[in-house]
Amino acid sequence: MKNFGSSILNQKEIAIGYREMTISWPQSLEAPLPGQFLTVKVTENPAPLLRRPFALSGFDREKNTASLIYQLRGPATRLMATLEINSSIEVLSPLGNNFTLPEKDETPLLVAGGIGLGPVLYLARELDKNGFSPRLVVGGRTESFLPDLSNLKNGSIHYCSDDGSAGFRGTAVDYLKSLDWKELPSARLYSCGPQGMLNACHNLALEKNIPSEVSMEQMMACGVGACMGCAIEVIGPEQYARVCKEGPVFDSRRIKWT
Ligand SMILES: Cc1cc2nc3c(=O)[nH]c(=O)nc-3n(C[C@H](O)[C@H](O)[C@H](O)COP(=O)(O)OP(=O)(O)OC[C@H]3O[C@@H](n4cnc5c(N)ncnc54)[C@H](O)[C@@H]3O)c2cc1C
Ligand code: FES
Repeated sequence: MKNFGSSILNQKEIAIGYREMTISWPQSLEAPLPGQFLTVKVTENPAPLLRRPFALSGFDREKNTASLIYQLRGPATRLMATLEINSSIEVLSPLGNNFTLPEKDETPLLVAGGIGLGPVLYLARELDKNGFSPRLVVGGRTESFLPDLSNLKNGSIHYCSDDGSAGFRGTAVDYLKSLDWKELPSARLYSCGPQGMLNACHNLALEKNIPSEVSMEQMMACGVGACMGCAIEVIGPEQYARVCKEGPVFDSRRIKWT
């Protein structure tokens, strides 16, 4: 983990309200793994005060670049969207844990919704590169909220929209339920997105008796395990876990879903 000054190398809109930013990464710093995140101090000015956490959506060791996909929400993300190529931001990364890789004979099913796209896309691309055939399911309200992603080599991308304007009509979990599960004898589920979607993925994993990991997105203050501001309730003697330190990726059976 390192705090470093990073240059913005590229940024573009990929869907309504969503942008992808590519930043420089120190050559000497370890590569972030899918699921890990960074925190950004967007400006030297006092506001916005807190660093903002974003999952990594890609990494290129040859070019020493990393990318993130963010939704325009409030002051920090609105400011990020105005930053020009070659301007600098302060980054702390890699933070948190990462997704567990599947076994060789498992079929990875990946589910992304909203701001959960970044980490799931990174995992999908890494699995694809390493000979797995991930099925990436991307859900959104309507076509304009769904990014046009470059296809995977071995895996596949499936779009779902609530209004049926793109791909399957219904949620990403509805889509998974519609699959022929006899064709998926040893599936492993990975998901990141709104809490309701994660809970539905967890319930599906229980129903199908398959392993399932969720990446949680909790409001954060310090981002490095010092303040307990991001604690969530978990099952077990420890009762609470910090999303920034023990997470953000959890076995979905460990979470106390409310
Ligand atoms: C581990 C982790 C990974 C994340 N990865 C991404 C990512 O890849 N892409 C992305 O767009 N966002 C991601 N987020 C959320 C991101 O940090 C917030 O959207 C961002 O901080 C908003 O800052 P802001 O100043 O623009 O808006 P703020 O004014 O800070 O927030 C605007 C609204 O966004 C919501 N919000 C803010 N922070 C969070 C949060 N952590 N989780 C859920 N809702 C929140 C709240 O409803 C808030 O009122 C991640 C959060 C965590 C904890
Ligand atoms: S944000 Fe401070 S402990 Fe996680």
